[in-house]
Amino acid sequence: MGWDQDFKASAEGIVDTVRAVVQGLTNNYRRVRYLASVARSRWFTDPQDTFEQISLSRAWDYESELERQRHRRVLEEVACLRGTANWGNALELGCHDGVFTLDLASRCTHVMACDISSDACARARLRCSALSQVEVARLNVEIDTFHGKYDLIFAMDILNYVYGRDRMLGLCSKISAALERDGLLVITECRLAHYIQDGWFRSWVPAGGDIIVDLFASQPALRLVHREFHPDAGQDVGPHYMAHVIAMYEKNEEGGTIGR
Ligand SMILES: C[S@@+](CC[C@H](N)C(=O)[O-])C[C@H]1O[C@@H](n2cnc3c(N)ncnc32)[C@H](O)[C@@H]1O
Repeated sequence: MGWDQDFKASAEGIVDTVRAVVQGLTNNYRRVRYLASVARSRWFTDPQDTFEQISLSRAWDYESELERQRHRRVLEEVACLRGTANWGNALELGCHDGVFTLDLASRCTHVMACDISSDACARARLRCSALSQVEVARLNVEIDTFHGKYDLIFAMDILNYVYGRDRMLGLCSKISAALERDGLLVITECRLAHYIQDGWFRSWVPAGGDIIVDLFASQPALRLVHREFHPDAGQDVGPHYMAHVIAMYEKNEEGGTIGR
């Protein structure tokens, strides 16, 4: 190797090292920023106010094609696991304006849909007003009680707003207790950026579809029966649609506790 080749090889090595250090620093800066937003949401903001503002601003469109594809994939997979006959009683957590609620209504005996935002609840109620089997209630899934037992519980795109392992396991425990003996839990959740999912804080702030699905799967009360990405490749579709994980769990017959 000549002198100029040696020089080129070491220059490339230095550039790679600098790039890795800058990337590491950037990711840590983003992680700290994310943790600050978690702390703000957990301790210093009122979630009802936050989600009321989002609903009133019409920021989310659940009738867009990619959201409808996600809804359809969920319905297809539940049909694989539960058949196409009536699915019984369903509880939908975080129904927003009721787009998915309407899908469920034609497949279930009764749908109890709930959301923390009264504006979202009013819109869901209006959308489903012709359907006597749909009930919509304003409640905070972390604080309020789920009355009754359900054959199906849907927690779709709501768990990334539960901040902290203690709260996530608390909600997981409430959900399992509200499931019938052979009930089915359906989760969909955005995967979020790698720097969040792989963050050093992930065991005490579980965030992102992959981490949340794993945490629920590790609970003895639940058995993971299905897992996929949406879209299939598991990659974000541009800046406006984050890749999701779709997961389904059956309640373990022996019951089992939550809290590992
Ligand atoms: C991202 S939207 C998901 C809509 C729908 N589930 C779907 O997947 O198409 C999340 C919804 O959850 C509601 N939400 C967030 N935190 C909540 C809580 N603690 N209790 C009840 N609803 C909540 C929000 O108001 C919002 O309407």
